[in-house]
Amino acid sequence: MPHFLSAEDFSPRSVYALFRLAGELRARQEPPKLLSGRSVALLFGEPSTRTRLSFSLAATRLGAEVLTLDERLTSRAKGETLADTLEVLALLGVDVAVVRTSEDVIRPPALSPSVVSAGSGTGEHPTQALLDAWTLYEAFGRLEGLRLLVLGDLRHSRVFGSHARLLPRLGVRITAAAPRAWLGREEDLPGVAERVALEDVSLEDLLASADAVLVLRPQWERHAHSADAPASPTPASYLERYGLTKARARALRPESRILHPGPVTWGVEIDPSLREDPRILVRRQVENGLYVRMAVLVAAGGNFEPCGGGAVAGEGNADVEALGGDLPPSFEPPVREEGNRAFSSPFHR
Ligand code: CP
Repeated sequence: MPHFLSAEDFSPRSVYALFRLAGELRARQEPPKLLSGRSVALLFGEPSTRTRLSFSLAATRLGAEVLTLDERLTSRAKGETLADTLEVLALLGVDVAVVRTSEDVIRPPALSPSVVSAGSGTGEHPTQALLDAWTLYEAFGRLEGLRLLVLGDLRHSRVFGSHARLLPRLGVRITAAAPRAWLGREEDLPGVAERVALEDVSLEDLLASADAVLVLRPQWERHAHSADAPASPTPASYLERYGLTKARARALRPESRILHPGPVTWGVEIDPSLREDPRILVRRQVENGLYVRMAVLVAAGGNFEPCGGGAVAGEGNADVEALGGDLPPSFEPPVREEGNRAFSSPFHR
């Protein structure tokens, strides 16, 4: 079974195939039950609204049996490792496990359901990057050549971790800007074109030259464990010093767009008056999350099989190439080549 643990598990070709599948699923009032007979477990060890609900709705609408686990009420609370828990799920016949964890890296065991990351510590949040990429693609009709400013807590953001691994491979040029204490390490994410401390630059100039700005929430809950906590900005002063104020938003061009993965703390990283700004795409991001996660679940546990029929745990080896570029324009009668394990479409069963 394929795992989707990192944005690097999605090739550019498979990203566009997933966009296409997500678009087809959105166009359907009644999505086909592509996960009928499959079971999907949601194992969340950190709070979530958007990711958890959208995965739950996505699996339900695709016809899966959905098992929702509050990690505090599982044997994880008694010290069982995530790997052992995943093995238990596999032994009980679970096909796909959607996992949110405080661990930076998810390492599925050899016997495991297909694991889809719903956010891992300060590491990655790959489906958030996918849905943001789709939202940008919808807004601009392209990704190639877009200039994206990522603004905020780079060091502790798993969303940034996935954006930096995904978007440059799709032709997006990322400028990343943060308070100096939250810049993070350049060498960890080499795809980022430019990384600047907000103390050294004019944020208005950065905004003026961006096609889109992705604002990140300061991850206050992670700072207590961070070595640089004393040097960190505080919530009270953040907006005026580093955030997207109403005045700074005037530097953004009318055709530019504002994204935020959510939850937004209005008044801290974005001025509340921008909630209804025509350039803001926060609501669209939430809506798009449902369809992107439907597409990812079909790839993880649906009716296409990964090439070669086996994934090696922890290697970021999701073989989504099987989806790439070959999706049908509509729900055509199935065509299946016997003996070919890489079906050309999830609709070809
Ligand atoms: N963006 C995001 O992951 O939101 P939730 O924490 O609400 O799932």
